[in-house]
Amino acid sequence: MSIQGQVGECVVDADRIRTRVRELAEEIHRAHPSGDDPLVVIVVLAGAVIFAADLIRALPHRVIMAFVKVSSYPGTSTTSQGIVESGSMPDAVRARDVLVIDDVLDTGRTLQHLRAELQSAGARTVRTCVLLRKDRAEAKAVPCDHVGFDIPDRFVVGYGLDYNDEFRHLPDIRLFTLGPDA
Ligand code: IMP
Ligand code: MG
Repeated sequence: MSIQGQVGECVVDADRIRTRVRELAEEIHRAHPSGDDPLVVIVVLAGAVIFAADLIRALPHRVIMAFVKVSSYPGTSTTSQGIVESGSMPDAVRARDVLVIDDVLDTGRTLQHLRAELQSAGARTVRTCVLLRKDRAEAKAVPCDHVGFDIPDRFVVGYGLDYNDEFRHLPDIRLFTLGPDA
C-alpha cells in the first residue's frame, strides 16, 4: 500500500471560474486604465499559469508577460515549506505598473516576498491578483488587490493547482486529501 491522495468534492466549478475571470479583468482595467505604457504581468510559476492565461486574454491592456518561480509547497508537501526562488526580477518592471498573478493566497509569504522584491526592483506600482484566498488569518492579513474566490482552508487542486505536479489540468477546483491507496 502506498500513500496517495484522492481528488474530492468540487469547490469552484469551471463556469464560476470563467465568469469571475471576466469580472476580475474588468476590476483590473478600472484600477489600471490602459495608457501608453504596457502593464507588466508577473505570473507565479507554475500554479498561476492557467489562470493567468485566461485572465490576460480578457484584459484590454498592452501586456508584458514575465514569469517567476516561487515554491512554498515543493513536491509532495501540503504545508508551506518557505520560499525558494530561482531567477531574478525581470528588467521590464523598472518604472512600470506591475500586476502579480498567483493561484492561491495561503500563508501570504509568496505575495509579501514578491511585493518587496518588485518594489526594490523599481516598479512604479505593484498590485496583486489571486484566484483563491484561503479562509485563514494569515491569508486575510496580507493585502491583495484582486481576489477571485474565498475558499475553506483546505488543500485543493485543479485549474493550475497541483499536488506533486499532478492535477493542474482539471477544469474545476477540487478538494484533495492525502490517504492510503485504495
Ligand atoms: P503562500 O506563500 O503560503 O501564500 O503560498 C502560496 C503558494 O502555495 C501557491 O502559489 C501554491 O503554489 C501553493 N499552495 C498553497 N495552497 C495550495 C493548495 O491548496 N493546493 C496547491 N498549492 C497550494
Ligand atoms: Mg505556486
